[in-house]
Amino acid sequence: MPELILVDKQYQEHIALITINRPKELNALNLQVMSEIRDALKELDDDDSVRVVILTGNERAFAAGADIKQMAGKSAVDMLLIDQFTTWDQIRKTKKPIIAAVSGFALGGGCELCMTCDMIIASETAQFGQPEIKIGVMPGAGGTQRLPRAVGKAKAMEMVLTGRFISADEALQAGLINKVVPVDSYMTEAVRLAQSIAVQSPIAVQLAKESVLKAYEMPLQESLAFERKNFYMLFATEDQKEGMSAFVEKRKPDFKGR
Ligand code: CAA
Repeated sequence: MPELILVDKQYQEHIALITINRPKELNALNLQVMSEIRDALKELDDDDSVRVVILTGNERAFAAGADIKQMAGKSAVDMLLIDQFTTWDQIRKTKKPIIAAVSGFALGGGCELCMTCDMIIASETAQFGQPEIKIGVMPGAGGTQRLPRAVGKAKAMEMVLTGRFISADEALQAGLINKVVPVDSYMTEAVRLAQSIAVQSPIAVQLAKESVLKAYEMPLQESLAFERKNFYMLFATEDQKEGMSAFVEKRKPDFKGR
């Protein structure tokens, strides 16, 4: 049983919720939290009743970064042997879409964890930042790579080199997040987004997510070929027949994920 996260497999129909639960430490991401998130996502990925996962913290903090107290005394060799970022790679491999529902601090590893998710809904109190520079290091869980892809080089460079936090509004303008809403409705908004994905064909959603991620990981010609194969593959599914028949027959499709 996880101790530092809460997992609700049936938060809503087809929607699971993972809540990081270390409120006193502002949800600092120690090794145990990250392993628990990885294990929970693996289990939810294997569960056909779940189609979308929401990952959240609490109103004050999504997560204030990797656990500085756990890292403070470590040597480079310790860090290499612990190899914590393999866990992050496994999280990135989750097949189902993950929506980060963010309120308060999303800093350092917390900002990187949001960016490892597929979409971000933020409360207007959310603050995003990569403040590692202020403690003598730099981002290590994708911050120097995913942030520039999301907000462009100039803003990413400024955030990484000065540690400046940006508000939810600035994050929205920069393209880091999907939507900003009042603090009392960020969960509702995340659920609304999850529901609008959960009604689609789960297998089409999975292949579409995989294809969009390739845009960041492959040269264009290769990722276009990858996309094309996934597109053709979907014509082998019952959901494609159902989706297109439903359109022709002017009714709502009933997708089964087959
Ligand atoms: N690691 C461990 N503990 C943390 C933490 C972190 N990243 N962030 C906050 N905490 C703890 C504090 O130590 C404090 O604990 P105590 O009550 O035992 O002292 C508690 O959470 C509350 O924090 P504050 O009293 O500092 O709260 P605040 O409102 O005054 O400040 C804050 C909030 C601005 C977020 C501040 O806590 C802060 O700057 N935190 C660190 C942010 C940071 O540097 N994150 C990057 C970490 S490195 C990283 O993430 C590397 C990577 O790429 C993976």
